[in-house]
Amino acid sequence: SIIPVVLAGGIGSRLWPLSRQAMPKQFLPLLGDESLLQSTLNRVSDSCFTDPILVCNEQHRFIVSSQCQQIDAATMALLLEPDGKNTAPAIALAAQYALQQGLDKPLLVMPADHQINNFELLIEQLPDAVNLAQQGKLITFAIKPDSAHCGYGYIKNGTKIAASNCYKVDEFKEKPSLLLAQQYLASGEYSWNSGMFLFTPSAYLAELERFAPKIASCIAAAANFSRDLGFTRANNEALKSCPSDSIDYAILERSPNVAVLPLALNWNDVGGFNALWQSVDKDEQGNSLSTDDVVLHSHNNLLSGEEGHSIAALGVSDLAIIHTHDATLVASKSQLDHLPELLKQLAVKH
Ligand code: GDD
Ligand code: MG
Repeated sequence: SIIPVVLAGGIGSRLWPLSRQAMPKQFLPLLGDESLLQSTLNRVSDSCFTDPILVCNEQHRFIVSSQCQQIDAATMALLLEPDGKNTAPAIALAAQYALQQGLDKPLLVMPADHQINNFELLIEQLPDAVNLAQQGKLITFAIKPDSAHCGYGYIKNGTKIAASNCYKVDEFKEKPSLLLAQQYLASGEYSWNSGMFLFTPSAYLAELERFAPKIASCIAAAANFSRDLGFTRANNEALKSCPSDSIDYAILERSPNVAVLPLALNWNDVGGFNALWQSVDKDEQGNSLSTDDVVLHSHNNLLSGEEGHSIAALGVSDLAIIHTHDATLVASKSQLDHLPELLKQLAVKH
């Protein structure tokens, strides 16, 4: 069986003011009734999976446990981090935990904040990847790119691995410049890294030891787990001294043991308001709005207010208008890359 590892420790600042430090995007019902975390957990209820290991920030532990309860999702462990150190340490914690349970079984690592409409495809295609994972490979799932997005990892497929649906990786480049991303897209030779991975705990920790030894040793030191109510804590002192890095920069760009499984996934990284606008229902003029809202002579806007609050948009196009009880964003959709820069200027932190 395969152990799902759900990473739910991100902040989601590009969806401010919907997403907040105290309530990041993965816990919000951005697309339908369930939160993105809940949809992720429902995705791995197939019988080929064990209960998942969930890794999140300790300040969100009760949000996470109540969202699990709401959908009756059991977890193998809810691992808490005092501060997020990015994905390489978070995955290492889960790997250490699995090993200590005597489970050197393939981990399927998944972000908690993606929309995927045809996850069955991934499940169907898994057996070859599981095989390679058991031989020590780190598998990443790749998606066909449709724009020169700079926030993703780019993968150049190498030759096909014999008797498998996976490929060697000729190059992995995390978050390239726009110019590079445009070249990659034009070449037709690159795909996007989906942010989902499959490997055994021992294979992952061996690569971490090799390419990020400081992270490996801090996490090894942190991995004397203790139970606290329904949660599992590591040694927080050791965790706090751990360097911050993502699996993409720390390992995938460097390791020769990475393989890729290309998938025609209907996938959306609900990273910012453009991605959200793409995923939601829209009227004939491309406006996304609730029944409380009205628009006239307006096109391609994303309107979001709280229930009972009406937004009226007149003669405006390509805007994100996001109203919450204590903050409102009005932004040109083409300028949203600069949102984090803008938020730094806010005197009051929301
Ligand atoms: N527990 C925990 N702790 N989770 C974390 C932490 C942390 O410190 N930091 C991030 N996460 C979670 C986020 O909540 C998210 O679900 C996932 O890990 C990935 O982190 P992001 O910060 O969203 O990464 P990214 O989107 O910039 O890039 C990654 O995903 C892209 C696809 O969406 C990379 O893997 C890219 O290569 C990839 O293309
Ligand atoms: Mg992301």
